[in-house]
Amino acid sequence: MKCFHYFKGRYSKEQRSAPIFAAKSKSDSVSATERGAKSSGSTTSARSFSELYEERAQNLRVFTYPELKQATNDFNRLLKIGEGGFGSVYKGTIKPVDGKGDPIVVAIKKLNKDGYQGHKQWVAEVQFLGVLEHPNLVKLIGYCAIDGERGIQRLLVYEFMPNKSLEDHLFNKAYPSLSWQTRLQIVLGAAEGLAYLHEGIENQVIYRDFKSSNVLLDEHLKPKLSDFGLAREGPTAGNTHVSTAVVGTYGYAAPDYIETGHLTAKSDVWSFGVVLYELITGRRSVERNKPRSEQKLLEWVRNYPADGRKFSIIIDPRLENQYSLKAAKKVAKLADSCLSKNAKDRPKMSQVVETLKQVMNEFSGKDSPPEKTIEAVEDDTVEPDKHTEALGSSESAKRRMAHLAKLGEHVGGISRRRFMILQRAKVT
Ligand SMILES: Nc1ncnc2c1ncn2[C@@H]1O[C@H](COP(=O)(O)OP(=O)(O)OP(=O)(O)O)[C@@H](O)[C@H]1O
Ligand SMILES: [Mg+2]
Repeated sequence: MKCFHYFKGRYSKEQRSAPIFAAKSKSDSVSATERGAKSSGSTTSARSFSELYEERAQNLRVFTYPELKQATNDFNRLLKIGEGGFGSVYKGTIKPVDGKGDPIVVAIKKLNKDGYQGHKQWVAEVQFLGVLEHPNLVKLIGYCAIDGERGIQRLLVYEFMPNKSLEDHLFNKAYPSLSWQTRLQIVLGAAEGLAYLHEGIENQVIYRDFKSSNVLLDEHLKPKLSDFGLAREGPTAGNTHVSTAVVGTYGYAAPDYIETGHLTAKSDVWSFGVVLYELITGRRSVERNKPRSEQKLLEWVRNYPADGRKFSIIIDPRLENQYSLKAAKKVAKLADSCLSKNAKDRPKMSQVVETLKQVMNEFSGKDSPPEKTIEAVEDDTVEPDKHTEALGSSESAKRRMAHLAKLGEHVGGISRRRFMILQRAKVT
């Protein structure tokens, strides 16, 4: 069975496994024209993640399956707090390491038994979260891996994030609307998390699945990025990108990455731009129950550019005018730059962080109603601008996305929006 691949010959049956990391992909390629260009990521002296993991792995707890079964009352349905494309998440309680003191509340993700993909995601998650440490990344407490007679089990134990995800707060009407200021604070924290991955560590990490459901919120609504199952190390020195099979979530993935399979940190920047527009509009990146012209968020918002007089039409009505229109325009312009068609024109995440901080400082405490009402601008014509161009992806990319959406529908249930192109990306 494929899913045993990494473990073959290393562990006996019913043995607890530790993650083993495959050698760095050979497909870390660079096109002829780009050869010689400088990588924005790791340097030759940077230690690989497997080396870093060896150093820091002891920080992770290794749980037995019975321990986690007990922690979740045998994975009781009533303790299930979420379900994603790769498994179910339960709330549970574990004992502190020394067995003394109060039980610790945790979130336990039990990966679906769908073999190789699930296993790969699990390895990536343990590898990255075992090494990375930042206030805006969710903390991985430990893991459990069983390769037994009756199949494999892969579980992850995280710090518990009591306030669900940004997605829940933006789109689920059961939650009170987030204020403009809180939205900015959340998105700033998420940007700081991404900037750390891209620019703050020895080896660059490309997150590859930035979306509002992966931004979890703690008791103070502080954001933390979760789900490192699709993360990849950035290009090695001298390379400009990593060539990979295309994986991600429909509606968030950068068109250049989908088209070429060339992954760079700027692919995350695109996804960040999508989330900025979700935050401004209160609409999902793809809304299937809207009129056709409004289903794709990026296509819809390009009719209402930040400089145009109709811009305020797209602002989330749940904000009830409690926002600064000037700030919203600045954030929309920032989103537009993140959504530049040419990846090189997108800002670095550290620049995004700076811009968000400026917007917050400039407008703190100045939440004011919009300057103009929507009715007053009825006859305004929308000029096709840079933004329109930035959002225009090639016909073939569009077709592929449509195909991906179809593929997604067969996957069924909650994982429908996530896609994987099984075909290897072009290696130039
Ligand atoms: N550490 C955590 N603390 C609290 N709740 C969590 C935690 N991790 C995940 N959850 C909950 O479980 C839900 C599902 O998470 P999961 O990452 O499995 O799926 P997803 O992000 O919704 O979709 P996808 O699989 O496409 O990433 C989250 O939206 C969140 O509500
Ligand atoms: Mg997730």
